[in-house]
Amino acid sequence: MMIESKITHSLDHSVGTLAELQGLRPAAIIFLGPPGAGKGTQAQQMAKQHSLPHISTGDVFRSHVANKTELGLKAAETMSRGMLVADDLVCNMVAEYIQSLDHVGCIVLDGFPRSVTQAEWLDRFLRTTGRHELPHTAPLAIQINVTRDQLLRRLSGRRSCPSCGRIYNLHFHPTMTDEICDYDGTKLQMRPDDSEDVVLERLTVHEKNTFPLTEYYRRKGQLREIDGNGAVDTVRTVIGRVTSMLTI
Ligand code: AP5
Ligand code: MG
Repeated sequence: MMIESKITHSLDHSVGTLAELQGLRPAAIIFLGPPGAGKGTQAQQMAKQHSLPHISTGDVFRSHVANKTELGLKAAETMSRGMLVADDLVCNMVAEYIQSLDHVGCIVLDGFPRSVTQAEWLDRFLRTTGRHELPHTAPLAIQINVTRDQLLRRLSGRRSCPSCGRIYNLHFHPTMTDEICDYDGTKLQMRPDDSEDVVLERLTVHEKNTFPLTEYYRRKGQLREIDGNGAVDTVRTVIGRVTSMLTI
């Protein structure tokens, strides 16, 4: 009973009810939220649970940077400063990914779109490629809200596996063996943009972009906001209440 009421509280119904989502088949589920909100953590779990394709634009850029591709060389300096990579580079990368999919249903998007320009591009792209056609509807955005103190703590403790991409945390989700991936035994890494000065810049960039982007989805009834301050499992349960209404 107590857990149920806590979960109900964690969903902000002012941006649209759950019942309105009943039976919808969104062409994409978009995770929005500040750096460290848990977009990657929740997107990975949702994709696995529902067998959906998942793209994290940040992860794809990091892999381009690591492989020193042309795109990686263009994005590296911008990322190291915590700024956003140019819209056309990001949109082209997402287009390439979506076009490579055999899967025609819902896609999980993590860290994309990040601006109204990207959101408008995505709507156009989904329509022109026929992905947003009945029974598939417009994307649904899930905004994860987390307090600044909690974000700073999460980002300072984040470690990721460079091999499989699994996300851990020194404070909240440590590995069984000191900073070694539980899944494949690779030594974990800290992201270079998780240094304190870059984190502060990323938070500022996020704050500047977030209002117009959330308004874009809110106006169209395509936004659900959730409280992401709880433990990973609690947040997953809250998100599960949203997705349980959908047909994905
Ligand atoms: P990106 O990789 O997308 O970074 P971000 O948005 O800053 O978000 P993060 O990945 O830092 O946080 P997250 O919300 O995924 O949290 P996580 O699940 O890891 O982008 C990086 C850069 O790439 C950008 O700065 C930009 O330069 C470029 N870029 C990417 N996309 C772009 C775009 N569309 N346009 C332009 N440029 C773009 O969790 C964080 C930590 O907290 C982890 O350690 C995790 O274990 C822990 N944690 C998660 N949930 C919980 C919980 N509930 N309780 C406790 N700990 C938790
Ligand atoms: Mg992430």
